[in-house]
Amino acid sequence: MTIEGQAIRSKAKTALSNQSFKTVTVLSSLLAVHDSLGYLPAEAIDEVAKYTKTTANDVWAVASFYTNFRFTDPPPDTVELCWGPSCHIRGAMPMLQKVFEHFGLEQEGDSPDKKVQVRLNTCLGACSQAPVISVNHRLVGNLDPDDACSTIDGLLQKHNRGKH
Ligand code: FES
Repeated sequence: MTIEGQAIRSKAKTALSNQSFKTVTVLSSLLAVHDSLGYLPAEAIDEVAKYTKTTANDVWAVASFYTNFRFTDPPPDTVELCWGPSCHIRGAMPMLQKVFEHFGLEQEGDSPDKKVQVRLNTCLGACSQAPVISVNHRLVGNLDPDDACSTIDGLLQKHNRGKH
């Protein structure tokens, strides 16, 4: 087993044993591991199968049913775009199109350079400040739809400068 595979298994085991629900299911276990790793690699599916005393095939069957699970390593940066009712009324839709185009996308997904994951969200919980986006979990409200792309680029640069 590779070092990376061992690290994934170890993180998955910790996420599984930290579940605080009364009823632990395959789905709750998948959610716990997905939250921890950001995706579901084969090693994680294996650990969920062991933990829930089922087979990897059964775990894959549950995991593949839910479109919110991803099975590949996520890009390092995440941009979430709210298209809930309040944001919709305040200009989110044309803004979403501009942001998708800016990242070379037609809809939500990973940018072609695999640097940014662009996701839609039905409400980011700050409706009074619509339209709202989130850049690496930092909320930005009262966004000027015409400035959305430059605001996102600025926040991504700032976030990534902070990492070094
Ligand atoms: S609808 Fe956009 S933050 Fe609630």
